[in-house]
Amino acid sequence: MANLWGGRFTEATDASAYRFNQSISFDSRMYAEDIEGSMAHAEMLGKQGIISEEDSLQIIEGLKGIREDIDAGRLQISEEAEDIHSFVESVLTERIGAAGKKLHTGRSRNDQVALDMKLYTRKQIRAADAELKKLQEALLAIMEENTETYMPGFTHLQKAQPVTLAHHMGAYFEMFIRDRQRLADIYERMDLCPLGAGALAGTTYGLDREMTASLLDFKGGPTRNSMDSVSDRDYLIEFLAALSVIMMHLSRFSEEIIIWNSNEYRFIEIDDRYSTGSSIMPQKKNPDIAELVRGKTGRVYGALMSLLTTMKGIPLAYDKDMQEDKEVSFDAMDNVKDCIREFTGMMATVSFNKDVMEESARRGFTNATDAADYLVKKGVPFRDAHSVVGRLVLKCVDRGIALDDLTIDEYKTESAVFEEDIYDAISMKTCVEKRLTKGAPGRAQMLENIEYYKKYLEE
Ligand code: ARG
Repeated sequence: MANLWGGRFTEATDASAYRFNQSISFDSRMYAEDIEGSMAHAEMLGKQGIISEEDSLQIIEGLKGIREDIDAGRLQISEEAEDIHSFVESVLTERIGAAGKKLHTGRSRNDQVALDMKLYTRKQIRAADAELKKLQEALLAIMEENTETYMPGFTHLQKAQPVTLAHHMGAYFEMFIRDRQRLADIYERMDLCPLGAGALAGTTYGLDREMTASLLDFKGGPTRNSMDSVSDRDYLIEFLAALSVIMMHLSRFSEEIIIWNSNEYRFIEIDDRYSTGSSIMPQKKNPDIAELVRGKTGRVYGALMSLLTTMKGIPLAYDKDMQEDKEVSFDAMDNVKDCIREFTGMMATVSFNKDVMEESARRGFTNATDAADYLVKKGVPFRDAHSVVGRLVLKCVDRGIALDDLTIDEYKTESAVFEEDIYDAISMKTCVEKRLTKGAPGRAQMLENIEYYKKYLEE
């Protein structure tokens, strides 16, 4: 396949240098965006009288046919083309003749690739957002069923105070709200069309850049500086940063799922459909999906570091280094979508051992603060109450029992203030239900949040 720039050359590119230089092996996935951009460009060229209306229509029809044929598998993207832009243009010219050669009037591959990448990224932002929304729906379903499922809340991975499963899931729901906000912010900031910037300095043709921007649905209109237009990959770096934060959240979540699923915790059981076995140990049922999500996080951070580093030394405007934006970004985009989807499937099918969770909270002294608060409410200074309950905990630890297993006489040996109502005051239910400050796990408060999340998901 002939390349687009043979004129000033007397020798063909060295075969292995050609392979090194090509991008068709990875940019072919942008064929639909490349064609979409070219159709808008051709329509504008025709309307402006830069090419004839007839040529413009022929080009648009030709491009439509190419897209349909690639979609349907009737046209294979040749591995021999230099890049997707060359491939589409050469097939077009093959099919419609002379008019095809006019498509590139007033355009460079530099503004073309800048556009294609933006169009592609924009779709990927929407796709990642849609996956996150499904994950939030799965979490909300768990929350609605578990406003009274008590479990230990942890600090330092030591049992701290009782919370509910709904509250714990709600924490992740909030993280994914912020992740989706970040995606929306990036989308808005990148919503300017680079087409018409040319190689770097605009063109001498009377292009209507407002028109192509609006045909391609860029709300912010055309970009303002042609040099920046062809060399800006900020939006991609921002997207990789947002994807990295999503992965950081999923990785933390995965870590908890792995711990909760362990033989020691037994808080949950991951469904057979989302577990795998061992080739040697017949008893094993491993949380591979969660582990892979945690593992792939490094790879997504890597993509961010890679592109930041690629961009840091590039003089204005376009340099070929920027072709390196694609493979790492595509890999990150694919993997993050896969991770969110598989994680959602795993969460939607996991079973919660509610009794084990509550028993773990009860036996883990998560109600010790509440026992101290009980004394405070009866007039004991907090520091004294803290020390009384500390001594009671020590007794329990020695005997391997929980605070609510102590008899009332044993309570009274440490403080005469204790009465029978201590048992109710330190039940898991009371401990949680009394936590009603905004954002706390108490049921009334949690139900308010659930209402808020439902409305949020409807919008
Ligand atoms: N494959 C190139 C890229 O991905 C397309 C732009 C080529 N432009 C150029 N002047 N060689 O960046």
